[in-house]
Amino acid sequence: MKILSVVGARPNFVKIAPIIHELNKRGIQNVLVHTGQHYDDVMSRDFLSDLGLPTPDINLGVGSGSHAVQTAGIMTAFEGVLVHEKPDIMLVVGDVNSTLACCVVASKIQFPDDSKEGNGNTHRGRERPVICHVEAGLRSFDRCMPEEINRVVTDALSDVLFVTEESGRINLLNEGKKESQIHFVGNVMIDSLLKHKRLAMGKVTRFNTIKAKEYGLITLHRPSSVDGRGTLNGILEALRTISENLPLFFPMHPRTRKQVERFGLGVYFKAFEDFNDVDTKAGLYVMPPLTYLEFLNLMMDASVVFTDSGGIQEETTILGIPCVTIRENTERPVTVEQGTNSVVGLEPQSILDAGIQALGDTGKKGQTPELWDGKASGRIVDVLMALQTWQAT
Ligand code: UD1
Repeated sequence: MKILSVVGARPNFVKIAPIIHELNKRGIQNVLVHTGQHYDDVMSRDFLSDLGLPTPDINLGVGSGSHAVQTAGIMTAFEGVLVHEKPDIMLVVGDVNSTLACCVVASKIQFPDDSKEGNGNTHRGRERPVICHVEAGLRSFDRCMPEEINRVVTDALSDVLFVTEESGRINLLNEGKKESQIHFVGNVMIDSLLKHKRLAMGKVTRFNTIKAKEYGLITLHRPSSVDGRGTLNGILEALRTISENLPLFFPMHPRTRKQVERFGLGVYFKAFEDFNDVDTKAGLYVMPPLTYLEFLNLMMDASVVFTDSGGIQEETTILGIPCVTIRENTERPVTVEQGTNSVVGLEPQSILDAGIQALGDTGKKGQTPELWDGKASGRIVDVLMALQTWQAT
């Protein structure tokens, strides 16, 4: 059996890493394809190495572009790779453009029967690989989000669906998927988190002078938060007010940095390098994007996290840290129902109120969602092993 896995952007690396490690442990042949959607060293190479992943076998080098340009670029480059590799199973994770693009290609590919071309693999008569989607079924029901389109299309085309929470199962059944296609396996992002916590504490030393629980953390990169000047200005104003009492660190995504510069909003920020030199620590401290272990190191000891990310809502739930999600909705409802997450919208006053509440005694404590136990990748590989006789219908 040969498995081909696709990654493209930062959160993909975190999700695929435990699965690749599990496949290698069991001696299952696998190929890792990186689309090149994220390409900066800190967004890609350093992330992979923090997670103990090798350099991907194939890098499509597609890079940035509009949604159509990026998606089409990935599709065009990926088709040849798929025909050459002829995997039995293709694994896609998450909801980024790379996930969607490769899923569409694989769903339409037709391998010639009994081909012995290319790398010498004999393809066992399947016309196309079995498409497996890890982190299936999540829905924000907000089609203004590019990720929601990616989730809906990827799930529609996937054969096997691995879900992280009960809402995913229900959403998929409502969309006509069969119960037999859906596997509730837990959360691979949490596999990575639990595996790397200790390493993040020991290996990262650059934040040693920062006192635990005496700071908060911010991540913002979604178009809905950072692409409009008024919205971004309002969010930053609320965060600046909170930072008068609690310094906030902001590792800034390149797309956010561009917008901050374009809108002339740099005045909100102090440089992180100055943090140790000032007596009054108050303020919003900006820093370049962090590697996986660096971010985990800072997140573990934060007293609150403000974010518009998906995965960070889940990670903070496991770490027991209050998470203020600056979005109108979430596709991960279990983090609100059982975890530490509060979805507060984009209004400055709501962000401010939620920040104050999160830092007070009434902050959410949360509990661990079912099967978020660090063993999801093992369950996924068990299912993959049982797919050997699967035929596309
Ligand atoms: C992508 C995902 C998003 C995910 C995020 C994690 C889609 C639609 N979005 O958003 O779901 O939460 O990754 O980070 O797939 N850039 C660089 N260097 C890089 C990568 C990007 O400078 O290595 C800049 C470029 O200006 C680029 C912009 O960031 O145009 C956006 O990158 P892109 O991959 O299109 O989307 P993200 O915002 O990163």
